[in-house]
Amino acid sequence: MMKDVYILAIESSCDETAASVVKNGREVLSNVISSQIPIHQKFGGVVPEVASRKHVENIASVVEMALSEAGVKKEDLTLVAVTHGPGLVGALLVGLQFAKGYAFSLGIPLLGVNHIEGHIAANYIQYKNLTPPFVSLVVSGGHTFVVHVEDYDKFTVMGETRDDAAGEAFDKVARALGLGYPGGPKIDAAAKKGDPYAITFPKARFHEDTLDFSFSGLKSAVLNYLNSERQKGNDIHVENVAASFQRAVVSVLVENAMKTIETKHLDKIAVAGGVASNSSLREELKKRGEEKGVEILFPEMILCTDNAAMIGSAAYFQYIKGKRSDNSLNAVPGLSLGREA
Ligand code: KG4
Ligand code: ZN
Repeated sequence: MMKDVYILAIESSCDETAASVVKNGREVLSNVISSQIPIHQKFGGVVPEVASRKHVENIASVVEMALSEAGVKKEDLTLVAVTHGPGLVGALLVGLQFAKGYAFSLGIPLLGVNHIEGHIAANYIQYKNLTPPFVSLVVSGGHTFVVHVEDYDKFTVMGETRDDAAGEAFDKVARALGLGYPGGPKIDAAAKKGDPYAITFPKARFHEDTLDFSFSGLKSAVLNYLNSERQKGNDIHVENVAASFQRAVVSVLVENAMKTIETKHLDKIAVAGGVASNSSLREELKKRGEEKGVEILFPEMILCTDNAAMIGSAAYFQYIKGKRSDNSLNAVPGLSLGREA
């Protein structure tokens, strides 16, 4: 029988400093997240230099906490896994340098993980029997993808955003509505009290013939609507704007994920990333899934937003296939998943 694999995973690609110990890819022994959201809130978004500095301040204690909460000694670790892209270069480098030093000092292997593959892997933690193939809808502050997950390490991007990410659009529209940062949860809450059919905004798709998304046209339409209403001296019905905008986003996310299910003849959609917390996305996908006999999977909230447990899970499935990184591992801010030719 194979020996138990204990992975220390580190994630610092954006504004969370996170570390986790994951056993055999699906069992989370600790999942420590030090969020910088309150620090970036006063700037209305993530400030890269501030993020890097905070990662430097926090990383050692976050890793120590992850080990002590897990009750695992350094000497028992099998591997150190770390996000090496995509993300903010300065932020990624903090986690990467720490991970390299840690692995080297313990004499254990190092493995670089793609952040987006990590988001997808969050579903392996939540759903212990989940195995590829399936469709994943990755929707976060930085990314929007419909992915055909063919195997643990084989991904085909079926559709992606041509401009802003889904979460970014939520954040920008929330700011224009004066709802604050991060905008996704605020729009979600406001939309519950609004009419999603009150205003017709363009759908967040790039073109009918592709599964790609486009959020900038929708965002501009919302901003134009707000300007023109204000110029006319009309009061803005924030809840209706939020609900109508959210409908324009969610309808295309659901549509493109369902189209992929049909073309690839699959029966599961695993949602990932911060926007997976969106209640309308959850409801709409569940509804369409029930109609079509498609199972809809959502990891719990803490596994949807940035965390290191998901990185540990993704790392495990690569580790058991023999993948390792060497000390030349570098941060790759634009690291991408493969695209179907
Ligand atoms: O995955 P994540 O934590 O970080 C990135 O890797 O980007 O995603 C953060 C994004 C933010 O843009 C936030 O506004 C959005 O997820 N978000 C939501 C909701 N909760 C978080 N968007 C829509 N509805 C939500 N309930
Ligand atoms: Zn993320």
